[in-house]
Amino acid sequence: MKCIMDDLTVYTPSPPAGQNALVVFPQARECPELPPSGYAPLRGSAPLGRVMLRDGRSAWAVTGHALARELLSDPRLSRDRSHPGFLAPEEWSAEVGTHGASPALVADPGDEAPHRPPLPYLTPRRTAALRPHLQRIADRLLTGMERQGPPADLVSAFALPMSALAIGTLLGVPYEDHDFFEGCSGRLLRGRTVREAATARAELERYTGQLLDRKRHEPGDGLLDDLMRQDGQGSLDRARLVTLPGTLLARGHETTADLVALAAFTLLRHPEHLAVLRAGKTPMTAVAEELLRCLATPNGILRVAVEDVEIAGRTIRSGECVVFVTALINRDATVFAEPETLDWDRPAGHHLAFGSGVHECLGRNLVRAQLEIALGSLFTRFPGLRLAVPAEEIRSKPANPTSDGLLELPVAW
Ligand code: HEM
Repeated sequence: MKCIMDDLTVYTPSPPAGQNALVVFPQARECPELPPSGYAPLRGSAPLGRVMLRDGRSAWAVTGHALARELLSDPRLSRDRSHPGFLAPEEWSAEVGTHGASPALVADPGDEAPHRPPLPYLTPRRTAALRPHLQRIADRLLTGMERQGPPADLVSAFALPMSALAIGTLLGVPYEDHDFFEGCSGRLLRGRTVREAATARAELERYTGQLLDRKRHEPGDGLLDDLMRQDGQGSLDRARLVTLPGTLLARGHETTADLVALAAFTLLRHPEHLAVLRAGKTPMTAVAEELLRCLATPNGILRVAVEDVEIAGRTIRSGECVVFVTALINRDATVFAEPETLDWDRPAGHHLAFGSGVHECLGRNLVRAQLEIALGSLFTRFPGLRLAVPAEEIRSKPANPTSDGLLELPVAW
């Protein structure tokens, strides 16, 4: 496996028979830490090019950082999934449903206005208060891994349960229910069939309804508790609270696990960068930010134009689909010098891994805290951590609508 970024500049895709050479979007990564090599031609058309979607339609592809920021704040580009021009999640990829989030869940209607998740409390302060809990979760999972002995799959033994439990803790799920919550979340997001996922969602909603009843008598300090207090003023209804865990898990469970696993893989592949981190010479906040930039795990952010938009010398017509290719946006050389290099010293905080504008990720502070704690704990607990198989055997997830990641990450220590 040649994992050098130069490959991107020389890659020339062969056009499908009878078609112009439009880059297909989305694609899976061959080299887990790099954008799919098939995106290379898009660099030539930066900041705005054309791609072919899996349903055969063509769409605009935003690859420049400044243009992405501008367009993500432009109300003429909408996230309305009911718009006929919007790409339905099941049309993202033929492979969706065989792995990764179920299309039914990705098409979660719960995050569109007026149904956007009510998360006024997901502030830096709340996240800071969660840090000791996140540390306990990481320590417990790593102890479990240690007891089982090497090798271990870091995705299933650490990254996935940690991110599910982090969301459970954020919501105020009691500790004794953690196993149920994590199991339900696993089936919800990685169920083999849409029916399995739907059953898990129904179970989760039933459980949340019971939890809300319990909390009415024994309030706690989770997000659900805060929202119930707010509900007392009549601003939220029970149905929204009951669906909130499913919505947050759809948004934040697998995405965060993908990032943590991919970050660990990247550090194991680059011992020189890991050594700096281990020497404690760089703040973990900087490490997390640079990994978020460089790994750019969201496969793409989607919009549909609801009016004509004249921009960058082109016209995006009303009804046309626009994809923001985060992996390339975060490697825009006009913004990030030597973008292919991992550089803990660069100010990377303005990457767009969390999007931008009104829909910027509401879980971003939680993700940052988790990434810092997960990596810090992992490499402290296992100073000799290494890949248990050759890097070439570690496979990326198929192209999917949520985020890029690894199928498995076998490690030993
Ligand atoms: C590595 C992990 C994550 C990444 C890369 C990520 C990325 C993103 C991106 C790119 C968006 C913007 C989508 C758009 O503009 O259409 C978004 C939105 C959102 N994210 Fe995340 N996310 C992550 C984890 C989380 C977590 C852990 C939570 C919650 C606990 C969360 C909750 C949300 C919500 C509620 C929105 C919708 C915001 C809105 O529309 O106002 N995310 N995320």
